[in-house]
Amino acid sequence: MTQDKNRRVILTTRASGLPTPELFTIIEDSIPTIEDDQILLKNIYVSADPGMKGWISKAKNYASVETGATMSSFGVGVVIKSQNSNVNEGDYFVGNTGWQDYSVINPDDPGTRKVNPSVGPLSTSLGVLGHSALTAYFGLLEIGQPLAGETVLVSTAAGSVGSAVGQIANIKGCRTIGITGGKEKARLCTEEFGYDSAIDYKSTQDLEKELKGASPNGYDVYYDNVGGRTLDIVTGLMKQNGRIVICGTAATEEWLPPPTGMRLERQVLINRLQIKGFILFDFRERYEDALSDIYQWFNDGKMNYREDISEGLEKAPNALSGLYRGENTGRCLIRVHPDPTL
Ligand SMILES: NC(=O)c1ccc[n+]([C@@H]2O[C@H](COP(=O)([O-])OP(=O)(O)OC[C@H]3O[C@@H](n4cnc5c(N)ncnc54)[C@H](OP(=O)(O)O)[C@@H]3O)[C@@H](O)[C@H]2O)c1
Repeated sequence: MTQDKNRRVILTTRASGLPTPELFTIIEDSIPTIEDDQILLKNIYVSADPGMKGWISKAKNYASVETGATMSSFGVGVVIKSQNSNVNEGDYFVGNTGWQDYSVINPDDPGTRKVNPSVGPLSTSLGVLGHSALTAYFGLLEIGQPLAGETVLVSTAAGSVGSAVGQIANIKGCRTIGITGGKEKARLCTEEFGYDSAIDYKSTQDLEKELKGASPNGYDVYYDNVGGRTLDIVTGLMKQNGRIVICGTAATEEWLPPPTGMRLERQVLINRLQIKGFILFDFRERYEDALSDIYQWFNDGKMNYREDISEGLEKAPNALSGLYRGENTGRCLIRVHPDPTL
């Protein structure tokens, strides 16, 4: 790469179905300039998130990337220029960097925050000490409201969000059961992330039977990252007054036309279930409070994590499409520049 240029991954076509690398192209232009109060970040890690499928799809969504624009993403980088009196060159910041080498950030924007690299490796500021753990924290504790002794079921249980959900539920004294794809991920669930048991949905012939076997009395909380057929099955296995947290819909490839499935209202009615969705940004005013709990648990050795890091900005589209085949184990990140803290 030429040092004085900025490579950007551009969305060229909106997706029908799962994102593929062909939807993107890389262009190179000048490093952006900053104005008053802004900072220029040299990006070190950017993320690939399952939610990006919605950002680039033709279907209605909470966030959207236009064709011709830099692909949106979270990222962490080092400040190389600052016109903000509260920020020094050499500081590290997390923000909405996009898939590019350099990003202009306003440090006061919601969701932007300074990172202390001594708390954990810089990459963790996007995962177990950042977005993934925050998603787990608010979804589980605010929406799921688990009580000690209750049984919490989690889908994509070995993933970045799922592994944090399981561990936070354990910290709160719950019994935890994970659903995940593959034997190795099931092993990680029980051996690294503290799940009481884990079900490999890819190898089972009868998911409902396995779920009944894992918790014959049913489930109090279902932290749902996939939706689809798994949600249909689990809804029928919930205990009275159970809570279903809708965090993600990884199992549905395409929302246009809307897929059809089971009718769930009877189960919701007779078991007095609550089903509630959330978007992490809803809680952005409370990130710092949540992070102080998460840092404490991390320092106490209660938050294990995995990362899946691809080398080079050009790998971002491939890393994204791999997420929907379950190829990642842990937080899916792309290293854009060498990490100076390693
Ligand atoms: N609501 C929010 O604000 C918010 C914020 C962040 C993330 N999320 C959601 O949280 C979930 C997890 O995100 P993450 O970043 O931690 O990703 P992740 O779990 O680390 O990776 C995605 C995983 O999804 C699973 N998956 C992919 N295709 C699937 C399919 N067709 N059916 C079932 N599972 C499939 C795979 O796990 P297996 O190998 O186990 O199948 C894959 O590894 C996603 O649904 C994401 O959209 C929501």
